[in-house]
Amino acid sequence: MSSNVSAVAPNAKHPSSAANGYKSTTVAVPHSFLSEMMASEYLPSAMTPLCHHMQRRGSDKATFHNYTRVYHHLFQHWTRDAFNLLEIGIGSIDASVPSNMGPNGTPGASLRGWRDYFPKANVLGADIDPQTMFSEDRISTCVLDQRSPHVAKYLDGMKSMFPSFRVIVDDGLHDGATNLHVMKHLLPRLDVGGYYVIEDIRPDQQPIFSARRFYPEQHFPSPSASAESQPRYRYEFCHLAYSAPGVPTDNCLFIVQRTQ
Ligand SMILES: C[S@@+](CC[C@H](N)C(=O)[O-])C[C@H]1O[C@@H](n2cnc3c(N)ncnc32)[C@H](O)[C@@H]1O
Repeated sequence: MSSNVSAVAPNAKHPSSAANGYKSTTVAVPHSFLSEMMASEYLPSAMTPLCHHMQRRGSDKATFHNYTRVYHHLFQHWTRDAFNLLEIGIGSIDASVPSNMGPNGTPGASLRGWRDYFPKANVLGADIDPQTMFSEDRISTCVLDQRSPHVAKYLDGMKSMFPSFRVIVDDGLHDGATNLHVMKHLLPRLDVGGYYVIEDIRPDQQPIFSARRFYPEQHFPSPSASAESQPRYRYEFCHLAYSAPGVPTDNCLFIVQRTQ
């Protein structure tokens, strides 16, 4: 493994429109591969600022899972930037809703954690459960069903405020086919340089992402773009070391970065 981790840090940015706050941003994409930055020896062993924020807010991203260590590694240079972040999965506590947080969960926990970590970002949460909707400083929410063939249309009502996203996190239904369906429809809304992450990939679904049979640019070409201007991506399936005893075997991330 190369140790060229710092070169991977996405620390250069070129805002393309800053009127009335964040509209769309292009982030310079460095050359190294995600696999280099994902090597576990490069992940911080100590709690990161994002770990503290998520834990304080009640999200399992820093406790049951150890995703916040990866995220801090990816995002630490963006904490002073203004941009948009979308997370699918706000945190239902309704036992009848698939992938709910359980009765002791804290709806909106991760949205607040992101808001605390990125003091200038606008955070949009989307969820199938209308009971999870709320609005706070720099946090908006909308109802969205990931399985819908019109999944992207759910976000259209928010388009003036959220035309695109630098970070998209899929922490919703946790079904591989649904993950790909949503990615197909939402990747076009990812800023160049931005990251799209799928969390909690179950063992039976991991081969979809890990066997390298899935190539975002081949599967999801932009019909309106020429061959030269097609979006490009790099991607990595990360099976993370368990952060604590009893963490299930879905402690996996599929990370896509748009490079063009
Ligand atoms: C694990 S919880 C999200 C936890 C939250 N991101 C956090 O870390 O604090 C998963 C969420 O996915 C939502 N969900 C389940 N099926 C969905 C669907 N088809 N479309 C959108 N959201 C869905 C559930 O309502 C639930 O709130």
